[in-house]
Amino acid sequence: MKVGFGCDHVAVELKNILMEHLKERGYECVDYGTDDPNVKTNYPEKGLAVAEAIKRGEVDKGVLICGTGIGISLAANKVPGIRAAVCSEPYSAKLTVEHNNANIIAMGARVVGSELAKMIVDAFFDAQFQGGRHAMRVDMITDIERKYGYADK
Ligand code: RB5
Repeated sequence: MKVGFGCDHVAVELKNILMEHLKERGYECVDYGTDDPNVKTNYPEKGLAVAEAIKRGEVDKGVLICGTGIGISLAANKVPGIRAAVCSEPYSAKLTVEHNNANIIAMGARVVGSELAKMIVDAFFDAQFQGGRHAMRVDMITDIERKYGYADK
């Protein structure tokens, strides 16, 4: 699986730690930046970059990190078909794949430490979407996109 990474200036160190962690686990990681903690980068740019990489099929899933994980996930979630979930513990990271078919995990570098963040990404990437009744509910999310004229399908 190919995983796209994006972060703002406050989350560069955690992004690098998580990329190394997932590479060690055999994932192919693509870095959409930023790489410089000393130059301010606006989180919507990186949320959009990773979301669009998923849409283009360049990567399968994404990891987004900013200070809280919130701003960067809000930006990514504006892209149709993107379901980015902010998680601060592994249980939610597992369930957001199993139930919500999330394709991006978002975290806050000012919220979680690096060891907890590794457990969160492991829970996210080890989980499988369960389909069934959950698929119908995820389809309802797509229906909302369609209602407002920005769904793909
Ligand atoms: C940057 O200071 C901060 O606003 C950003 O990293 C993020 O927390 C926004 O949601």
